[in-house]
Amino acid sequence: MAKKTLKEFANIALLADEIVGKIDFAGVFGRKSAVHIEVGSGKGTFLVNQAAAQPDVNFLGIEWANKYYKFIVDRVGRRGLENVRVMRTEAASFIAGNVGDETVDCFHIYFPDPWPKKRHHKRRFISAANVEQFYRCLKPAGIVNIATDHQEYFQWMGETFDGFKEKFEKVDFVKPAGATEDECAGTNFERKYIKENRAIYTTAFRKIPNKS
Ligand SMILES: C[S@@+](CC[C@H](N)C(=O)[O-])C[C@H]1O[C@@H](n2cnc3c(N)ncnc32)[C@H](O)[C@@H]1O
Repeated sequence: MAKKTLKEFANIALLADEIVGKIDFAGVFGRKSAVHIEVGSGKGTFLVNQAAAQPDVNFLGIEWANKYYKFIVDRVGRRGLENVRVMRTEAASFIAGNVGDETVDCFHIYFPDPWPKKRHHKRRFISAANVEQFYRCLKPAGIVNIATDHQEYFQWMGETFDGFKEKFEKVDFVKPAGATEDECAGTNFERKYIKENRAIYTTAFRKIPNKS
């Protein structure tokens, strides 16, 4: 059988430059439903398994590496998952510029690049500026779900959210339904790390609705 091309799955690939202003999730998915965004989807393992497990949820995967983006679109298309869209773009700018206030139910951030060198810490995705954006975009009681193998980055994440005690409360990490019994999140990187017997750290934060 001929290899499927991206073109065949044009309905799954969402082009960043076609989104002008705030994204209309109901229009993009063709229905009004809960919206989950995964930042840095890699090969899309979480995305496909979770979307299959929660067909009632609309999933947007954001991945900036072209190679992985194409891989995910093809994978989602071949699985016939109608509740997934994939976008190739830089997630922080897209979220800040194109995601509306209180439109997202959950952000999934699994095994983000740890940028271990001190001079690179400013590149880390979990930053005060991005936490502000999660708060703005999440619906009341919306969740940021996080997993990493990097202990020092994990600590950094906790300290970053500690700066937002009036906006986020730490809650138990609820394992996504698409993960297997042995997994926390069910991503490709996690599978690799499990084989290497590395520790996996998880955490989650819930938006405290604005009382004013
Ligand atoms: C370490 S990999 C983890 C991939 C996947 N979450 C997993 O656990 O298998 C990090 C991924 O995030 C993507 N990425 C990193 N920063 C990003 C950003 N600012 N916007 C979109 N994607 C990003 C990278 O291209 C890479 O595929």
